[in-house]
Amino acid sequence: MAETVIALRDIAVEYGGFTALQIPSFDIQSSEVLALIGPNGAGKSTLLRIAGLLQYPSAGKVYFRNEQVNRKNSMGFRRRVASVFQEPLLLNTSVYDNAALGLRLRGLDRAKIERLLRPWLDRPPRLASRSHTLRRRGAKNEFGARVRLRAGSAFVG
Ligand SMILES: Nc1ncnc2c1ncn2[C@@H]1O[C@H](COP(=O)(O)OP(=O)(O)OP(=O)(O)O)[C@@H](O)[C@H]1O
Ligand SMILES: [Mg+2]
Repeated sequence: MAETVIALRDIAVEYGGFTALQIPSFDIQSSEVLALIGPNGAGKSTLLRIAGLLQYPSAGKVYFRNEQVNRKNSMGFRRRVASVFQEPLLLNTSVYDNAALGLRLRGLDRAKIERLLRPWLDRPPRLASRSHTLRRRGAKNEFGARVRLRAGSAFVG
């Protein structure tokens, strides 16, 4: 059964007195795929940062699986949300090490990282491909490879 993962209630985001976003109610269900469409400046990126727990709203409530997220408890919830940005950031190292970065930052050991990462290496969107083998460097210079790698990494763990 679908479960509400993120719920936003009466959200307002202000930038220096300018209200960039007002959202009375917005829910994201588990397994749901959503596309957010709107003109430039409509507040899409702002909404994604709020829903991704990367930014606090100026007013309103944010819930992760029915628990309210606040400045004190947000770190634990943030670790359970992955974001893939328009301009994916990659380190100048191998595909494998880039894919492992998020897990390493969370303090997981090598064996655990290997166990989590392995099944995703050739499952869509595929972290590695024929031309981007695991130990190869340079994926950071290829836009498609960067997007695939970051999108793939977001599913791991
Ligand atoms: N850090 C900021 N400081 C001041 N104003 C901001 C800031 N970030 C966004 N804004 C303003 O808030 C509004 C929403 O911006 P946002 O980037 O969320 O829109 P968007 O829908 O993602 O736009 P785009 O289609 O161009 O990516 C815009 O008017 C923008 O200028
Ligand atoms: Mg945007």
